[in-house]
Amino acid sequence: MKITKGIILAGGNGSRLYPLTLGTSKQLLPVYDKPMIYYPLSILIQAGIIEILVITTKTDINKFKTLLGDGTNLGIKIQYEIQAQPNGIAESFLIGENFIGSNNVCLILGDNIFHGDNFFKYIKKAQKNLHDGYSSIFGVEVDNPENFGVINLDNNNKLLRIAEKPKNPKSSLIVSGIYFYTNDVVNISKSLNLSSRGEKEITDINNYYISKKKLKLNLLDKSISWIDTGTYSS
Ligand code: DAU
Repeated sequence: MKITKGIILAGGNGSRLYPLTLGTSKQLLPVYDKPMIYYPLSILIQAGIIEILVITTKTDINKFKTLLGDGTNLGIKIQYEIQAQPNGIAESFLIGENFIGSNNVCLILGDNIFHGDNFFKYIKKAQKNLHDGYSSIFGVEVDNPENFGVINLDNNNKLLRIAEKPKNPKSSLIVSGIYFYTNDVVNISKSLNLSSRGEKEITDINNYYISKKKLKLNLLDKSISWIDTGTYSS
């Protein structure tokens, strides 16, 4: 039987938070009383995901190992891989190919914080969707959609397309940084061309699943707070 494995993507150079991130990883910065990565990690644990891969940079990998170890003290198994360059979020599935094996996978961005008791309900739904052969994304309303993957729906609220950081967003509904994918995501990532900014784009993966009618959108209600910690203002 397939299980859902978890990947936390915690690389990148955090340049929008310089000088804070010149000497350390963004995902190790404190958020209230914990390092940032504890938040996505706890979401995976809540989802019942106990095999987790942390992908980070060559410079930071040992700091994450010192912080989290192999996960035994949390009752989980943590492995680590290096992403040599920030070649795109979708590269996670190539770096994690062996780790994922024949299983499904939940990817969470190491700088995304979800807060709210109800969130568990959404995760359960996504796990059920995987069981039924569907991948899932999570939509949130924001004031600055142009900075994210923007969701375009038809009149019946069906997914039409996602546009990555469009100049003229068609809605204020965006894709947050947690994704549940069926196992074919590894092969889809392999087939992706690089975008104009030279990355393997997660949005291209989502649009592929939309074109195959295999992507479910879960709209997060107002009881869930979502923060992308990429910039000082957010
Ligand atoms: O936060 C949700 C948004 O995340 C989505 O709405 C967008 O569709 C998606 O492209 C992404 O946009 P961002 O501009 O927030 O992505 P960013 O480049 O900031 O990367 C997000 C996190 O992933 C950040 O902590 C750094 C890490 N990262 C990113 C890339 C591109 C890596 O570790 N490696 C990478 O190659």
